[in-house]
Amino acid sequence: MKTTPNYIAAPDRYTKMEYRRSGRSGLKLPAVSLGLWHNFGSVDRYENYHAIALAAFDAGVTHFDLANNYGPVPGSAETNFGRIMRESLHPYRDELIISTKAGYTMWDGPYGDWGSRKYLLASLDASLRRMGLDYVDIFYSHRPDLETPLEETMGALSDAVRQGKALYAAISNYNDEQTRAAVEILRRNGTPCLIHQAKYSMFVRRPEEGLLDTLEREGVGLIAFSPLAQGLLTDRYLHGVPADSRAAREVFLHRSDLTPELLAKISRLNAIAVGRKQTLAEMALAWLLKDCRVTSVLIGASSVGQLHDNLKALAAPDFTTGELEAIEAVLK
Ligand SMILES: NC(=O)c1ccc[n+]([C@@H]2O[C@H](COP(=O)([O-])OP(=O)(O)OC[C@H]3O[C@@H](n4cnc5c(N)ncnc54)[C@H](OP(=O)(O)O)[C@@H]3O)[C@@H](O)[C@H]2O)c1
Repeated sequence: MKTTPNYIAAPDRYTKMEYRRSGRSGLKLPAVSLGLWHNFGSVDRYENYHAIALAAFDAGVTHFDLANNYGPVPGSAETNFGRIMRESLHPYRDELIISTKAGYTMWDGPYGDWGSRKYLLASLDASLRRMGLDYVDIFYSHRPDLETPLEETMGALSDAVRQGKALYAAISNYNDEQTRAAVEILRRNGTPCLIHQAKYSMFVRRPEEGLLDTLEREGVGLIAFSPLAQGLLTDRYLHGVPADSRAAREVFLHRSDLTPELLAKISRLNAIAVGRKQTLAEMALAWLLKDCRVTSVLIGASSVGQLHDNLKALAAPDFTTGELEAIEAVLK
């Protein structure tokens, strides 16, 4: 049965989104991208995540981010995204930027983890099969591997590009020093690093300690993952832990993370957002996007409503000095 809702590919989709160049590459990404780490697995409802993906595309979100292990079960987010492609988005392949990664545990034995050429290239083939794609747009080394020569890991990315299985090479979770070395090797290989996917939010400021400067100097973009700190930087937990929330699932976010101190900070940030006539989620995303070195914020959403709320960050008023100082006072 065909399940394509009739609102797919709204004619005005590209007027609603801002597109930012990734570093000094030729590729522009939507300021808001959609990640499929959660909510697209075999435990989730097809009707819900299918609607989220189409609503995103309809709003100009051209970039969908995956990894081999997204689910649960690992691999199921790619399989499910493959179904969305087949049933709905296939005609728009040239309008989409689809990424995947390898680097975390995917299968048993010594060749299903970390950064060997053996793992990365086999994993990419498996990802393409699951999604039913000929190529991905971006292929990431998901994390650095201190036991594998960086030349081997980067060489695998470069060969994936040369083989036409990926259009661009990229890295994730590399620190500043590792990033400089990886960028240099990829450039020497003739397959420059497109983008770095780093954890960055009001609550996680690490990229400000050198990485953002390095990326700007090297002409590499930054895409900020978990920009809402997995939902903490929203109004989700202001009045308890909803049964359908990530914290209630107790896997990647835990009830015990919600300390009284953290909840007090979230409430104070929420009050600043209300003063700006925004939700906290909108403000947290706008706060990242005020830095033009941030190519895109890579959100997750468990409903179309959350997605639409997050997209309103694009229409956010500029921050006043007073607001920025008030935010820093809460975060310090
Ligand atoms: N490279 C890496 O190592 C790495 C690691 C992690 C993530 N990522 C990428 O980053 C993407 C996003 O990560 P993330 O899911 O942690 O991002 P996030 O945007 O920080 O958190 C998303 C979660 O926050 C809640 N939420 C979102 N919008 C909301 C709103 N407007 N109001 C209230 N709650 C809202 C939802 O949780 P509920 O389920 O509670 O509704 C949603 O699933 C992933 O899908 C993946 O592509 C990459």
